Amino acid sequence: MTHDAEPRPAVARRSQSLKGAARVPGDKSISHRSFMFGGLASGETRITGLLEGEDVMRTGAAMKAMGARIEKKGDEWIIQGVGNGCLLEPQAPLDFGNAGTGSRLTMGLVGTYDMETTFIGDASLSGRPMGRVLEPLRQMGVQVIDAAPGDRMPLTLRGPKHAAPITYRVPMASAQVKSAVLLAGLNTPGVTTVIEPVMTRDHTEKMLKGFGANLNVETGEQGVRHIFIEGQGKLSGQTIAVPGDPSSAGFPLVAALIVPGSDITIENVLMNPTRTGLLLTLQEMGGDIEVLNPRNAGGEDVADLRVRASDLKGVKVPASRAPSMIDEYPVLAVAAAFAEGETLMQGLEELRVKESDRLAAVARGLEANGIDCTEGEATLAVRGRPGGKGLGGGTVKTHLDHRIAMSFLVLGLATEKPVTIDDANMIVTSFPEFMGLMETLGADIGQPV
Ligand code: S3P
Repeated sequence: MTHDAEPRPAVARRSQSLKGAARVPGDKSISHRSFMFGGLASGETRITGLLEGEDVMRTGAAMKAMGARIEKKGDEWIIQGVGNGCLLEPQAPLDFGNAGTGSRLTMGLVGTYDMETTFIGDASLSGRPMGRVLEPLRQMGVQVIDAAPGDRMPLTLRGPKHAAPITYRVPMASAQVKSAVLLAGLNTPGVTTVIEPVMTRDHTEKMLKGFGANLNVETGEQGVRHIFIEGQGKLSGQTIAVPGDPSSAGFPLVAALIVPGSDITIENVLMNPTRTGLLLTLQEMGGDIEVLNPRNAGGEDVADLRVRASDLKGVKVPASRAPSMIDEYPVLAVAAAFAEGETLMQGLEELRVKESDRLAAVARGLEANGIDCTEGEATLAVRGRPGGKGLGGGTVKTHLDHRIAMSFLVLGLATEKPVTIDDANMIVTSFPEFMGLMETLGADIGQPV
């Protein structure tokens, strides 16, 4: 999608019960990393189940621009990687579109190279803070030659002749910052150490080990993790089967809980414990979610989820759960809109710096549809109305944010009046099949008349 595509509104209407089985696309975090690590490792990497969303394709294009060969044959993506330390200087700016993960991880990956790399993106990405990644990179000797005010994109990096390994304590709960430093460590002599006080998704650690990196994790008493990576080692191509994205699964899952009479199964969902906070919270709210066929696939836990419409009740979601459900708060707020009593979500400060200020965007969207909520600095309280009577009828501003768009379309499936969103274009960044999949289950989503 181009940066200035015409907005495409969409509307969701109260639907008949949702039925059937569906498979959500591959996990976005693992898909980005599959392209990156496959493009970097020596030899061939083969990937199935890759998310072919806009964000991930930008990462693929960036890796190609730095020397990797990437092609699709049948259902498989096949990559010939360059070898660790052997990325080439891109001849043009790397355009990451809407993708925070792609851009921040790639800054780490190439920052320590003795070459110039320019990063650009859409209006949403250009407004997001990059200092959180640039700060440790600067400590390693990387120069930020050019950046928009406040360390924002467009920005250009130039690495040193020899990068310096650092020990870096990640100041916020962010898998992107952790990963950027670890990836910078790959091209740095010696051992780079990341200290992570609060555990976030661990795909970088698991996958880098799988590619052959010398990476070790020690977990201390309070759960503080020390991650050590030895630079300049060999990485070798791998075969990867990407499991379904639990963040994408959240949309049909909540839809089935709130649309009366629904009974659906979502197959092959990643169940890595750093990603299952939404599931746990919805179960605490009384959601009827059965975890079927738990199994291990390619080093990750996966399962099928059978979800039936349920009477939900409000709960307090502790701040400590935020890292394991950080992308799921918008859709949790939608579930809370139909729950009996109040749902209080805490520890939401990171929501302010996502594809949009998600805390404000969710609160305004709920208010526009008659839902009683209170937005705090880092909290959101939602007082639900079981049955959704009188709710809906509003138009939601999505601010170029795919998860705001999908969450509010889910809202409209169970409110009395339809819910309109101002732009559905961004959904292709993470879940291109969203509309079709929801319609197959019986959801009434379409163009406004
Ligand atoms: C991601 C980390 C999270 C998450 C994002 C994907 C990743 O961001 O919100 O969608 O793949 O590492 P933060 O690291 O900013 O929390």
